[in-house]
Amino acid sequence: MEDFKILLGEKEIPQSWYNLIPELSFRLPPPINPGTKKPLAKNDLRAIFPGGLIEQEMSSAKWIAIPTEVRDIYRLWRPTPLRRARRLEKYLKTRTRIYYKDESASPTGSHKTNTAIAQAYYNKKEGVKRLVTETGAGQWGAALSFACNIFSMKCRVYMVRVSFHQKPFRKSLMQIWGSEVVASPSGLTASGRDVLKKDPNCQGSLGIAISEAVEDAAKNKHTHYCLGSVLNHVLLHQTVIGLEVKKQLKLAGEKPDYLIACVGGGSNFGGLVLPFVKDKLKNKNLRIIAVEPTACPSLTRGLYEYDFGDTEALTPLLKMFTLGHNFIPAGIHAGGLRYHGCSPLVSALHKHNIIEAVAYPQLAVFQAALVFARTEGIIPAPETAHAIKSVIDIARRNQSKCLVFNFSGHGLLDLASYDKFLQGQLKNYAHPLHEIKRALKDLPKI
Ligand SMILES: Cc1ncc(COP(=O)(O)O)c(C=O)c1O
Repeated sequence: MEDFKILLGEKEIPQSWYNLIPELSFRLPPPINPGTKKPLAKNDLRAIFPGGLIEQEMSSAKWIAIPTEVRDIYRLWRPTPLRRARRLEKYLKTRTRIYYKDESASPTGSHKTNTAIAQAYYNKKEGVKRLVTETGAGQWGAALSFACNIFSMKCRVYMVRVSFHQKPFRKSLMQIWGSEVVASPSGLTASGRDVLKKDPNCQGSLGIAISEAVEDAAKNKHTHYCLGSVLNHVLLHQTVIGLEVKKQLKLAGEKPDYLIACVGGGSNFGGLVLPFVKDKLKNKNLRIIAVEPTACPSLTRGLYEYDFGDTEALTPLLKMFTLGHNFIPAGIHAGGLRYHGCSPLVSALHKHNIIEAVAYPQLAVFQAALVFARTEGIIPAPETAHAIKSVIDIARRNQSKCLVFNFSGHGLLDLASYDKFLQGQLKNYAHPLHEIKRALKDLPKI
């Protein structure tokens, strides 16, 4: 009998996170302090991050032990299943084997919980009482709210305004776990007020919400900031995904030909692929593909430059593919992919041609999501559906390959977006070249 899912026991949850950075043959360009224009020192981060996470951000250790307390909480849902999409394969009439790592099995419905638990743990350990963050579609905000609830900490989430209205039930999730949720841009911070002065109807972006959260953390006692993607320590926590996949593929007797994931800030992509990068360096036939929206095409259309991580220029400068920190993407329903930049580590892998990137428009992505929902049964988050679109295209072009993609989250709280798609009310957004060019003019000078 052929298996539909490859499962691991709880003892197989990784003992350590995997840090690719010391294994690279090139040096990752360091983050820069915008004031001194010098590489960031650990002290520069102490106002908003705990020491444990700062160490991980700059670590040169290849393996970093996962604390027992964090592993114990991971046991609520990890290891996640690796599923074989046999019904999708049949529908596509392909002999290509399609596997997906089901991160939607976490209590909050996405991969974000892997890092939320770790971040809350290190903050709690250092006596921090309150965490603040931004969220796009609400998956990250929900994950951090869940983690704060577990560790009895207060939490405020700045939720991008367009998603606040598109996805009201993610807001409910965050409130159930005890968080305060604020539509961003808000009147609560100088950053938010500044944006609203220029555009009172601004729909918000991840870049703006990050500015508000960073400002809140810097100004309030006992408060730290948490980021759901982009930074090295976030991608590090997500490597549990790829480490488990390696074991599961071995059990299935498979070696991947393609690894595929959607990219917002780069954390679910990094989580799946970073443990495979050394394999890719030995085997050029392995292809690693990042999928992004045409409405926010940082890897496919952005520049590889130093830029701020947020709109109001409060963060350190990161060397990354960016569309400019002032770029406000169209209000597509994959709210978690509306970020102007991309993780410096993922960006460097792209710059060095170790990974590839493609972009798809919203309607084709929702169409692919329907195919998946109608064959496999699970409704993907609109972000995840970007990976699925790429998988379907590759499976149609290739026979007898092994494809693995990251099913980063379910879309059960994105049904309003599906309703709009089914009623023909969604539209495509092409990449607005003139706006991107304008935003790129404001890149900081180094
Ligand atoms: C389900 C899902 N997938 C992917 C992403 C993109 O984020 P990242 O690139 O950090 O994985 C998000 C972000 O909110 C998300 O909610």
